[in-house]
Amino acid sequence: MGALKALLIVYHSMTGGTRQMAEAARAGAAAEAGCVVRLLHAAQAGPQDVLAADGMVFATPENLAAMSGQLKDFFDRSYYAVLDQVNGRPYASLVCAGSDGSNAARQIERIATGWRLRSVAEPLIVCTHAQTPEAILAPKQIGAEDLERCRALGAALAAGLVLGVF
Ligand SMILES: Cc1cc2nc3c(=O)[nH]c(=O)nc-3n(C[C@H](O)[C@H](O)[C@H](O)COP(=O)(O)O)c2cc1C
Repeated sequence: MGALKALLIVYHSMTGGTRQMAEAARAGAAAEAGCVVRLLHAAQAGPQDVLAADGMVFATPENLAAMSGQLKDFFDRSYYAVLDQVNGRPYASLVCAGSDGSNAARQIERIATGWRLRSVAEPLIVCTHAQTPEAILAPKQIGAEDLERCRALGAALAAGLVLGVF
């Protein structure tokens, strides 16, 4: 087998949903022999982590029709420091939303396009269907089926890295 591959998962989460999705993706990826997974909160992640990664997962809530401010801050701090140094590396995105999620996914896609990353999956969007302010601010519990989708995405990304198919 070749050298170990590194998968970086960067996430932010306010009420826990995105964190559970990112942890499920980590579990799926970590089960693949030959792949080392790093799960980092967006505030803890920076350009060196991106440069060290063979593949990436970006995970965010959709807040106010946008990726969360902390994930945006990670991209703002990292964008120019890695530009043209990560061309072609595979990535996927996870979005936890109340009812939509598409704009957060689109924003990540635009940044990833700037980095010349290669999208290897459709954005995985999970809707928690919280409507009232109380429900929106309450802790979230992502269902088993949705967590399984996140786990499978992590596993597929890790397997693709290890096999060199991306
Ligand atoms: C300030 C704020 C704005 C939000 N705006 C949106 C939105 O534009 N679209 C949407 O689908 N959900 C929206 N939501 C709902 C969150 O995406 C949803 O609660 C999600 O589960 C949060 O993920 P988290 O548990 O990882 O924080 C918003 C929530 C908050 C707190």
